Amino acid sequence: MTELVTEGLKVGFRAFDTARDYSNEHIVGRVLEECLKKAGLSRKDVFITTKIGNSQQEKGDIEGEIEKSLENLHTDYVDLWLMHWPYPGYFEKTWEKMEKVYAQGKVRAIGVANYNMRYFRKLFSADIEVVPHCLQLEHHPMRTADDILAFCKEKQISIQAYSPLCRMIPAIRDNIILKQISVSKGKSIPQVILRWHYQHLSVPVFKTLKPHRLGENFNIWDFELTEQEMRQISSLDADYKYHLESVSCPGY
Ligand SMILES: NC(=O)c1ccc[n+]([C@@H]2O[C@H](COP(=O)([O-])OP(=O)(O)OC[C@H]3O[C@@H](n4cnc5c(N)ncnc54)[C@H](OP(=O)(O)O)[C@@H]3O)[C@@H](O)[C@H]2O)c1
Repeated sequence: MTELVTEGLKVGFRAFDTARDYSNEHIVGRVLEECLKKAGLSRKDVFITTKIGNSQQEKGDIEGEIEKSLENLHTDYVDLWLMHWPYPGYFEKTWEKMEKVYAQGKVRAIGVANYNMRYFRKLFSADIEVVPHCLQLEHHPMRTADDILAFCKEKQISIQAYSPLCRMIPAIRDNIILKQISVSKGKSIPQVILRWHYQHLSVPVFKTLKPHRLGENFNIWDFELTEQEMRQISSLDADYKYHLESVSCPGY
């Protein structure tokens, strides 16, 4: 991880995504501290997102959980704290407690992940004080989630796209529309998709284990997709989800 983070910082990446349920917060904390020092950067130069998982929602000590995350991450605040899932039976109460943590300044922003319209409606019908600052959702050309994005725009909820490359599955990698746009722009398919996200004001949270891909994935600022190309890419929507909710969130 040290090699990846060092290369990422060198290329220009400044945002990191983790979660309690990834069981790697403590590694992210240690490696980030070491790499920031080596790069002559400090905590305030990076944006850290972490998430509170279902088992922690079940236990109910939401304030205690942020303390553990801060300790794991070697920091006294996180930039964005997300509820990982709208865990049925728990999520409204969790949100109320997250609002309290936000008021204390231990997290700069609070948000949710994996909410669809049904869960947004439920959350908003509870008496919430803070509108989520961010939604992290599976979002890519095969899942444009237009209804959710329109709702978030109306409520001024920012968007982070997870699995933004749809894991580069064959339906993406071999897609003729993406190939044509890629050739005409002189850019790779991942670069075209990441640019599509950027032009949607959706922040792509991609993953790679290969340091040489970081430069490629960052290099999306010297071209623009036309409105027609944006529409063509969005036309790949098939309401397809790589990650199944039922596996990660019983009762979803
Ligand atoms: N909130 C949630 O519930 C949730 C759920 C899932 C994921 N996430 C977050 O989203 C992040 C990314 O999601 P993801 O890993 O599912 O999907 P992804 O970023 O769409 O896809 C990752 C795959 O794309 C490949 N890839 C990346 N750049 C590439 C390039 N330039 N050329 C070719 N292949 C490339 C990677 O392979 P190589 O390693 O070989 O480059 C990897 O197999 C996760 O790490 C996590 O932080 C959040």
